[in-house]
Amino acid sequence: MKKLILAAAAAVLMSGAAYAEVIKIGVVGPFSGPFAIQGKNFKAGIDAYIATHGDKIGEDTIEILYRDVPQADPAQSKALAQELVVKEGVQYLAGFYFTPDAMAVTPLLQQANVPLVVMNAATSAIVTKSPYVARTSFTTWQTSAPMAKIARERGVEKAITVVSDYGPGVDAENAFKSTFEKEGGAVVESIRMPLSTNDFSPVMQRVRNSGAQAVFAFLPSGPTTLGFVKAYNENGLKDAGIQFLAPGDLTQESDLPAIGDSAIGILTTFHYSIAHDSPENKAFVAAAEKAIGNPAELSFPSVGAYDGMHVIYKMIEATGGKQDAQKAVDAVKGLSWESPRGPVSIDPETRHITQNIYLREVAKRDDGTYYNKEIKTFEKQPDPGLAAAK
Ligand code: PHB
Repeated sequence: MKKLILAAAAAVLMSGAAYAEVIKIGVVGPFSGPFAIQGKNFKAGIDAYIATHGDKIGEDTIEILYRDVPQADPAQSKALAQELVVKEGVQYLAGFYFTPDAMAVTPLLQQANVPLVVMNAATSAIVTKSPYVARTSFTTWQTSAPMAKIARERGVEKAITVVSDYGPGVDAENAFKSTFEKEGGAVVESIRMPLSTNDFSPVMQRVRNSGAQAVFAFLPSGPTTLGFVKAYNENGLKDAGIQFLAPGDLTQESDLPAIGDSAIGILTTFHYSIAHDSPENKAFVAAAEKAIGNPAELSFPSVGAYDGMHVIYKMIEATGGKQDAQKAVDAVKGLSWESPRGPVSIDPETRHITQNIYLREVAKRDDGTYYNKEIKTFEKQPDPGLAAAK
């Protein structure tokens, strides 16, 4: 009898019939160095999702494997993704703060039979590099085009753009310029800075000399965005009445205390404010604050990661835990849900997230903390970037 039971159990195992499995998810991001706080936010969002939804999907249990790429480094990103797939046998890849790091991994996906859920990298074209990419963050096209409309509504006629010279910066410049000009404004000059730039005084001088009424800027959130906003204030541009316009990368909540009172009134457009007023967001923020430890460090990559986990859980559910990247990705095409940021869905054509973009103004609470106060909503925005590139 005992033998029979053992034989039956072995037969079930060998037939590949459903039994509890550990499903590994490899997450690549900056977990040390100058951008460590952004990676910490990936982890906080992932931990918050697991704390509120459990680590089991059906019979299967998930396991997260983290890999550190401190700064944009496509070669290191690719090597680590390869190691995760080949040595660790991850069924999913996720994370990716910087565009070049995400781009470097897309050629691996099809052969590896692994979906990639991008939790931050924001260049429109990433989703076109493989049919196995889905994205739960934003694109700089999506966040920057509304700012051009706001600028025109507020009477800005001449603007200058300043961006980091790589994917999301070039996209932000194109989004702002084309929208601003369509609305009747003129971009008098477009400056692209190397990603490594950290002395912004010469750029501020050019902005001053340009005769523009407003500067539109994009840099990837991190130490340099803080430096850029400080340089705008310290070089007298604010006092000279040159308006500062940017997507929300430039006023991430974790930077606001260091910018101080001079941040008050800065207008940005973005997909997520930690102060977003909804029950879903309150629950998320409570879980994410607990996960990150220091609430002052909470910032937008946490919500991209939290929603990225939602997408991965749906993929695992749909495939019953089996490794089938096509089926997994197909299962989330058209998926819609209530995110902490507001209502969202995965566009079935682009596999990028459709979402509200909010105009926000930096404000100060009575307790001295700063926040991005949502003051206007552009509802259900798809990514305009891919259509523009065609
Ligand atoms: C990117 O590299 O795509 C990126 C990084 C940080 C941001 C936005 C975009 O804040």
